Amino acid sequence: MLAVPGSNPRFVEKARGLDVDAFFLDLEDAVAPSEKEAARAGVVRALEDGGWDGKVRSVRVNDITTEWAYRDVITVVENAGAHLDTLILPKVTAARDVHWLDTLLTQIERAVDLPVGRIGIEAQIEDARGLTAVEEIAAASPRMETLVYGPADFMASINMKSLVVGEQPPGYDTGDAYHHVLMRILVAARAHGLQAIDGPYLQIRDVDAFRRAAGRTAALGFDGKWVLHPLQVEAAGEIFAPSQEDYDHAELILDAYAHATTVDRRGAVMLGEEMLDEASRKMALVIAGKGRAAGLRRTRTFDPGT
Ligand code: GLV
Ligand code: MG
Repeated sequence: MLAVPGSNPRFVEKARGLDVDAFFLDLEDAVAPSEKEAARAGVVRALEDGGWDGKVRSVRVNDITTEWAYRDVITVVENAGAHLDTLILPKVTAARDVHWLDTLLTQIERAVDLPVGRIGIEAQIEDARGLTAVEEIAAASPRMETLVYGPADFMASINMKSLVVGEQPPGYDTGDAYHHVLMRILVAARAHGLQAIDGPYLQIRDVDAFRRAAGRTAALGFDGKWVLHPLQVEAAGEIFAPSQEDYDHAELILDAYAHATTVDRRGAVMLGEEMLDEASRKMALVIAGKGRAAGLRRTRTFDPGT
């Protein structure tokens, strides 16, 4: 998911040509306070002008403690709601933040004749309170589609002794300092059928470091990551898709298991040296689904005789 400062028409124009699944136009932390109000019109124009080529279209509004939040939502949705798929709500600390946005969205949709409930909500978990309430936030509305981890704000919120977002804090020489946070967000998302998305990596020229950080969350099961620069786009695409080998293997497992259960009528079967059962099928479905979504093609076919 590509982050695009809403106040910068040059970045908006560039964003149209990048090969990402989703993008958001930012009205929050990438926009200076003095530009917040003017940025709304630019965001509306960028959505209305289109050219986003099947990408999921989002806007990040300001958080609900600010004087900008309500008018961000009203201006963007009244004027460009038909060209918008989700709103990202930052710094969510409780279910009531999501209720507020859900209610306001419904009012606007009724007022301007948009289908009620189509616009989804992505909640950013960015501080200790948000993490503590992550379960109730995930369950707060049928509009909830995604939990997004906000590493920079989160690190600030817990007083982490580091300035490099997404990197292990110096001095913490054992394990992964973010494991608890990431796993908690991921489990809450999965428990409620939501996507889990990792936030930004700010050292934009260090693509190897981006790969390491993205590789960790992709390995856990996160669905994607924010990208800030074309250099990060390509890396993220590769990292969140399965390897060709894993994709082929997953499709073979699905074929072998389907053959075993329907033709041989057995619930457990061997594929080479590997024993497969129903749980193997579920694991394979995850990898195969990601591979198909990434446009991978099979290079091996199943032969029931082997
Ligand atoms: C993103 O919003 C972050 O705080 O990392
Ligand atoms: Mg943030």
